Amino acid sequence: MTKKNLTTQLAQVTFDGPLLNASGIHCQTKEELADLAATSNLAGIVTKSATLLPRTGNESPRYYDLAYGSINSMGLPNLGYPFYLDYVQQETAKPTILSVAGLSAEDVLEVLMDVQDSDYQGITELNLSCPNVPGKPQTAYDFVATRKLLERVFAFFTKPIGVKLPPYFDLVHFDQIAAVLNDFPITHVNTVNSVGNGLVVDVEKEQVVTKPKGGFGGLGGAMILPTALANVRALRQRLNESIAIIGTGGVTSGADVFAHILCGADMVSVGTQVIKEGLGVYDRLTEELQAIMAEKGYESLSDFRGQLREL
Ligand SMILES: Cc1cc2nc3c(=O)[nH]c(=O)nc-3n(C[C@H](O)[C@H](O)[C@H](O)COP(=O)(O)O)c2cc1C
Repeated sequence: MTKKNLTTQLAQVTFDGPLLNASGIHCQTKEELADLAATSNLAGIVTKSATLLPRTGNESPRYYDLAYGSINSMGLPNLGYPFYLDYVQQETAKPTILSVAGLSAEDVLEVLMDVQDSDYQGITELNLSCPNVPGKPQTAYDFVATRKLLERVFAFFTKPIGVKLPPYFDLVHFDQIAAVLNDFPITHVNTVNSVGNGLVVDVEKEQVVTKPKGGFGGLGGAMILPTALANVRALRQRLNESIAIIGTGGVTSGADVFAHILCGADMVSVGTQVIKEGLGVYDRLTEELQAIMAEKGYESLSDFRGQLREL
């Protein structure tokens, strides 16, 4: 099979292929990040969402594997943003996306001011959607707060920056978030974060499977694919053309990658399936994607990106 042209662009950066790691998966420590740099068919590296101060995160067990996906309540364990800002300035093997999260608007602004003042010229991603920090709501469900925060960010931030969004479930909410985002020069949206506050019940033990928040946790993996595809599609239909989309959620096969791109994704990131299968998943997904493209006679991703047909 001849190799297809899988290159894609985000914020004027060219990536060798469409696949990224999802933030939070194998990207927290120096060793994990080095593994990503050496992983074939992984076109770029997204860091663990970094906060102002290092965090150990929530109590364990905080991740649970399911036949149909995963539930987690990690609570943003990370080494603190100086480590990741330093890392992205040194990484040369692949383009990077520096993911940043805050426990308050002030935290976020303090971190982003340092990113602005640093030598880092790559892409930053503001995580507005972590569902697992006890007592902290997901910012992007509050459209007024999101607009206010972005106004404060773009008052000083001039580097490429996108946002990571939670899933939306109502068409009016897609309209509302798109109306906010279209007013700012953001490079991309990454959609979706974990589907927040699911509850998995172990019937035999009559108890929950993760400890934090009484067992409520973010869902990922195969079970969230339709939600992720809906969010990619609905946002592609509403966002300015200049805003790229990273499709995240539910990818377990090359067909799922194809579906994300068909819905309008410029790039696709993989979380739960990496935990289940290991970093070799990127080779398999790429082979499967290429086989589908060959069968359909497509030469590049732009041949089918966003071309989903309605009945
Ligand atoms: C263990 C774990 C940790 C995560 N940590 C983060 C994080 O730090 N920042 C973030 O934006 N998303 C985080 N996520 C969400 C993933 O990046 C992704 O959006 C979600 O898992 C859906 O993708 P999937 O179906 O491929 O797992 C995390 C998910 C998991 C399972």
